[in-house]
Amino acid sequence: MAEQNEILLKIDKIYNPPEKVLKKALISKEKFDELYEKSIKDTENFWEKLAEKELHWFEKWDKVFEWNYPTYKWFINGKLNITYNCLDRHVENGKRNKIAYIWTDEDGNEKKYTYGELLELVNKIANGLKSLGIKKGDRVVIYMPLVIEQLATMLACARIGAIHSVVYAGFSASALKMRIEDAKAKIVITSTWTKRRGKKIDLKSVVDEAVKELDFVEKIVVLQREGDNLTLEENEIDFYKLIKNQSPNCTPEIMDAEDPLFILYTSGSTGKPKGVLHTTGGYNLYTHITTKYVFDIHEDDIFWCTADPGWITGHSYMVYGPLSVGVTSIIAEGAPDYPDPGRWWSIIEKYRVNIFYTAPTAIRLFMKYGEQWPAKYDLSSLRILGSVGEPINPEAWIWYYENIGRKNCSIVDTWWQTETGGHMITTVPAYPQKPGKAGKPFFGIEADVVDKNGNPVKPNEVGYLVIKKPWPSALRTCWGEPERFNKYWSEISQYYFAGDMATKDEDGYIMILGRADDVINVSGHRIGTAEVESALVAHEAVAEAAVIGIPHEIKGESIKAFVILKQGIEITDELKGDIKQCVRKELGSLAVPDEIEFVEKLPKTRSGKIMRRVLKAKELGMPLGDISTLED
Ligand code: PRX
Repeated sequence: MAEQNEILLKIDKIYNPPEKVLKKALISKEKFDELYEKSIKDTENFWEKLAEKELHWFEKWDKVFEWNYPTYKWFINGKLNITYNCLDRHVENGKRNKIAYIWTDEDGNEKKYTYGELLELVNKIANGLKSLGIKKGDRVVIYMPLVIEQLATMLACARIGAIHSVVYAGFSASALKMRIEDAKAKIVITSTWTKRRGKKIDLKSVVDEAVKELDFVEKIVVLQREGDNLTLEENEIDFYKLIKNQSPNCTPEIMDAEDPLFILYTSGSTGKPKGVLHTTGGYNLYTHITTKYVFDIHEDDIFWCTADPGWITGHSYMVYGPLSVGVTSIIAEGAPDYPDPGRWWSIIEKYRVNIFYTAPTAIRLFMKYGEQWPAKYDLSSLRILGSVGEPINPEAWIWYYENIGRKNCSIVDTWWQTETGGHMITTVPAYPQKPGKAGKPFFGIEADVVDKNGNPVKPNEVGYLVIKKPWPSALRTCWGEPERFNKYWSEISQYYFAGDMATKDEDGYIMILGRADDVINVSGHRIGTAEVESALVAHEAVAEAAVIGIPHEIKGESIKAFVILKQGIEITDELKGDIKQCVRKELGSLAVPDEIEFVEKLPKTRSGKIMRRVLKAKELGMPLGDISTLED
């Protein structure tokens, strides 16, 4: 009881930034408030000034912003190449020998790439892709482990104006196939394997399976890792053979600010995943500015974002944001807790990491291992700790603050999405923090919590999170499905509807409560109920299925499935395992339900829609709510 009270006292507290942060901070609280006011009052002028100051453009724009509801454009007719901003300008400005990336793996192997070396690698890959006939606008799918070549391949696409679509290397062959097919990618770039928990995971065979029936895929480029010597088929080419004799120079393609940069697939509440499309100029500017101010980047900082480029966090805060500001980043392949739960803390100690950005699920995992693990290491280099992907529960926030930050770091709890491209709601490091509350909207972002009609709810009342106007890195469309894009801007008034429930307190701090729709957030990964259900019914014994997310100590949410079997099928443990295997095959391990319950019936509306909310309420022992539309 006494312990509980102590935690409650800590949760209610406002945490002021420590001296160490305040002394260095690029912007103070007062400056942030002042600039925020300006950014809302005259948004176009605000972004225009920053675009001029912070980025290199081949040609200046004619107009900053145009909004023909629901579509919008930023920096109209401005010309740039994001890789010029990420690489060339640093090399030209005396940072050729500054380290861009330090890669490490579970065995402690290490590779370092300077900005100069990275530029040459990117150019060679870019020339290699050109030699295969890839040109501006073509789609390239990247299914690779977390190695420098993966990041460099993304940049090589951007160099020549090809649109990359990175697929997380944990997705199954059929999930990969869907993405290759939807984007009609000409080329797939992969690797032989990745290693996790000491075990090799074969990636190449997943690609083989995925492309079997896809005639439009012209070539598979294969990065063979140390010791590999695969015999490649006629349509396959070795990564290093492809780039070996290429020139280290490649003139960057002149890109319009609104030319597509990448597609990234993400789950929605219905149907197949959506291909979120981001363009060049606004995305470059917004990820640059958020990296600089939210992580308070200084010239000598070491930055470590623990994500994977298969997700938006990797795109924006492992590749484009950090390189555009010119910081040194760590990238670590493999599991956080292997060979032991000290791995991440030893990396922070070894490389003197200053800014560390991870997900609440990882923090909860380490809470379970106990504070003795981080306690063994010198973490005094840390100044800023970030959180992303799901709501961070106050207990995890405090554990992070005390055991990793040693009460001497600021925590930035960054709320954003694949669609938003960059951080939307957070406190900047010099701003007072409240555990469990993401904080305030970033520059230029007008966020609010409203009811279904778009009217603001009272302080601390639950409502829908909306953004009132487009921002530079907002998604531009859903690949091939503009109607799905329009939906974001038409659900609630003409605001951007994020799909999250939230509250806003008297000080304007926003707390994210979780999804408002049929999307489950498992360990910070978005999984659509519809996708899992269709993977379940792909099993021959399954007649119907419904899935819900239920609270989970480490993952945040876990998936529970309710399954109706076809007539005459016997329930066995083997069958359960078989059904789970079917989901693994259709989607990948991250979408496999933790629990399957066989039922005779599912709650449905009279029009036949499954009422997942009723299943969830029953599961959690909560009131059922309005069930007037329930069938029986
Ligand atoms: O529900 C919110 C949650 O993750 C969703 C976006 O998922 P995704 O597009 O995969 O991007 C994740 C990484 C940016 C949001 O709708 N979410 C993300 N960050 C937070 C969060 N929920 C609460 N607090 C956060 N900091």
